[in-house]
Amino acid sequence: MRVLVTGGAGFIGANFVAHLLKSGAERVVVLDALTYAGNLHNLAAVQADRRYRFVKGSILDSVLVERLLAEEELDTVANLAAESHVDRSIRGPAAFIETNVTGTLRLLEAARGHVEAHPSLRDRFRFLQVSTDEVFGSLSPTDPKFSETTPYAPNSPYAASKAGADHLVRAWHETYGLNTLISNCSNNYGPFQFPEKLIPLVIHNALSGKPLPVYGDGQQIRDWLYVGDHCAALATILRRGKPGETYALGGNAERANLDVVRTLCALLDKHRPRNSGSYADQIAFVADRPGHDRRYAIDASKAMAELGWTPERDFTSGLEATVLWYLDNGAWVDAVTSGAYRDWVAEHYA
Ligand code: NAD
Ligand code: TYD
Repeated sequence: MRVLVTGGAGFIGANFVAHLLKSGAERVVVLDALTYAGNLHNLAAVQADRRYRFVKGSILDSVLVERLLAEEELDTVANLAAESHVDRSIRGPAAFIETNVTGTLRLLEAARGHVEAHPSLRDRFRFLQVSTDEVFGSLSPTDPKFSETTPYAPNSPYAASKAGADHLVRAWHETYGLNTLISNCSNNYGPFQFPEKLIPLVIHNALSGKPLPVYGDGQQIRDWLYVGDHCAALATILRRGKPGETYALGGNAERANLDVVRTLCALLDKHRPRNSGSYADQIAFVADRPGHDRRYAIDASKAMAELGWTPERDFTSGLEATVLWYLDNGAWVDAVTSGAYRDWVAEHYA
């Protein structure tokens, strides 16, 4: 595989680049705009690998993408570049449409041109769109889990932008015959996640003596998947997935947010106890997110049966490993929680 990984300096992207190189990819070119969420420190472990190249730039830059595809003779695009935070999408949706929808359009067009210019790539080429379960909307407690046949019903600007991109990807397969694949994955957690998302935010705030904000009643349910298991699934989809297909990915680990926050507090009490009391004393119920989806859950049986993929980490061990990673990597957290991060937190949680 000679892969272009867009968004490779972000949370999942950086983990995916490491996974690809470890599993023998011939070439891995990262294209990342290094927004607030992108961080070259995330790629430090692969920096010396001669098969790896980093290029700072946007997926909106068609000329750059076309040049990279041609000069690096790439046969695979994995599109992870995105604006990815729901709360930010509520405050400023336009950037989400620009990057997630228009950016995906530009990538698809560049990929189509590349394959047309190199007919030998026609069968071999793969375009993987890394999408989310949020495109399916919200489940009630008794609804069956989301699967590949669930109709799209996005509720946030983020989810709508990802849904729009998925529709484009589908159409580029149906209309132009581009070998596309889509994955719709549930919430990820693990090393290098930016501390605006629930799990790293709670760890960071707990250690900083700050409130642990729980939206609404904290009974919203997410289905958590360890990032390493997501990366293994993406690599498997590239190897064995059928062009034109979509794959729902999840960890079979539905948890209410309040339970996740309490478990994190217990893990921190164990590994980095406070002088007195529990981190749970810092839990603070705050105003709910507008349009907050109540429950996500994924039925990943298609990916398991057809691709032979199965998540290896259970949520209990994955969460403890994640807490330990954040405790061991305080310098990484300090580096990413820059002035811009602090401004966002002050505004959002005011
Ligand atoms: P992230 O916000 O940590 O990383 C996104 C990366 O994209 C950053 O490095 C950023 O600099 C880069 N980027 C943003 N705009 C760009 C542009 N125009 N051109 C090039 N690079 C750009 O996000 P993440 O959590 O790693 O998510 C990666 C992908 O996986 C996203 O597409 C997201 O929708 C999807 N996804 C995430 C989750 C999750 O739980 N985090 C779950 C399912 C799917
Ligand atoms: P998040 O990590 O933003 O992921 P997503 O919105 O993509 O699921 O949020 C996970 C859940 O945690 C979601 O239901 C919102 C909730 N949440 C809080 O209760 N407090 C917070 O400070 C954050 C960031 C999220």
